[in-house]
Amino acid sequence: MKLTSHKTRSFSGAARIPGDKSMSHRALMLGGLCREETIISGLLEGEDVLRTAEAMRAMGAKIGRGDDGLWRCFGTGMGRLKSPSHILDMGNSGTSARLLSGLIAGHNITATMTGDASLVKRPMKRVIEPLTLMGACIEAQEGGRLPMTIVGAEKAKAIEYRLPVASAQVKSAILLAGLNARGVTTVIENKPTRDHSENMLRHFGAKVTVEDLPDGAQAIRIDGPQELMGCAVDVPADPSSAAFPAVAAALIAGAEIRLPHVGVNPRRAGIYETLRDMGADIAFKNERVEAGERVADIVVRGGNMLRGVDVPPARVPSMIDEFPVLAVAAACARGPTRMTGLAELRVKESDRLKMIADGLAACGVRLEMGDDSLTVHGDGRPPRGGALIHTALDHRIAMSFLVMGMIAEEPVSIDDVSPINTSFPGFTVLMNGLGADIRP
Ligand code: S3P
Repeated sequence: MKLTSHKTRSFSGAARIPGDKSMSHRALMLGGLCREETIISGLLEGEDVLRTAEAMRAMGAKIGRGDDGLWRCFGTGMGRLKSPSHILDMGNSGTSARLLSGLIAGHNITATMTGDASLVKRPMKRVIEPLTLMGACIEAQEGGRLPMTIVGAEKAKAIEYRLPVASAQVKSAILLAGLNARGVTTVIENKPTRDHSENMLRHFGAKVTVEDLPDGAQAIRIDGPQELMGCAVDVPADPSSAAFPAVAAALIAGAEIRLPHVGVNPRRAGIYETLRDMGADIAFKNERVEAGERVADIVVRGGNMLRGVDVPPARVPSMIDEFPVLAVAAACARGPTRMTGLAELRVKESDRLKMIADGLAACGVRLEMGDDSLTVHGDGRPPRGGALIHTALDHRIAMSFLVMGMIAEEPVSIDDVSPINTSFPGFTVLMNGLGADIRP
């Protein structure tokens, strides 16, 4: 279904954003490994996370949602996952595919996984390589693509592995395999990526250590096998999802929104730092730490003229999913915004760099795209808009260009609303509740 976003004159109020996607996946996976009960509040009930729940059930965990909105897991116990009787369909979810590959590889089980037209194009070699070193036998399609069959290690070997790409998914896959391996598994990351796996493993009672190395990298170590302990997990709102209303509010004169209980882990909050650098009025109120994760109420006041900035490449991993919506802010700012070190955007749910560039150009925005860079030339005025954007099964492209439609002179449409449900069910209702005009 097509959806059109019209110019928004006022944008105000408070809204609870759905739960963090990364944390929701991890809570279900770890809960599915514990023999005692795990109770999860605030779980994101988006399609991607439901794929993880389904896969964990297929491997023996009991997972269900109560009428009280809480999710309860009774897991199998460490080392006791069973081979699923059917192919695991990961839908659009790269996080499910890569993290579960790690869990399967560390268990003496066999599973085949596949995905939708977007996921089957995404690279899996990045997990196949380390998991093979740990003793798994993995057969994938040409180029290391799904569908793939993983024959888990009989006794997984602990390895030391330096990540060739900055990827929290690859780091997490190795740590999850390491949970059931013999000895100390070490992942070395040159650039810090989101550390939700480390935090949540600790929350479930696992021992995970982090050491700063002399070359500036970090070594993350887990000693296996380790039994996890069931616990209560409160999932905060997703900072990546919150970025859509936050950017809209920053660009609309007189806007004031409050987004309570959002995860603001510094390894996720790069978009807010960048928007502040651009001159946006964004405050983190009532900051606190809950279950090892930093949480705050985000308050955004609109109307400041944003200025173009150079985004430091070192900040890229902490806002890797937010470049589409940053590009919309950049298109409205005064002066060029230069973004570099974006090679990973080419292998997200779509070739996101190209999709951003194509979408901006269709909306009349001047830009230059390189192999791994993008410069957006805003002139401090709302872009023309008036385009139909192809979303290519990419939820973040879909939502970003609906935000563009709120600001642009002419309405902006997206050709397919369905990808939004992977990460942000209720997006349109929430945005319209704050004052947006998004409709079929
Ligand atoms: C995620 C890590 C990131 C991010 C994805 C979720 C995670 O992917 O883009 O949306 O939950 O670990 P990469 O690890 O490929 O950078």
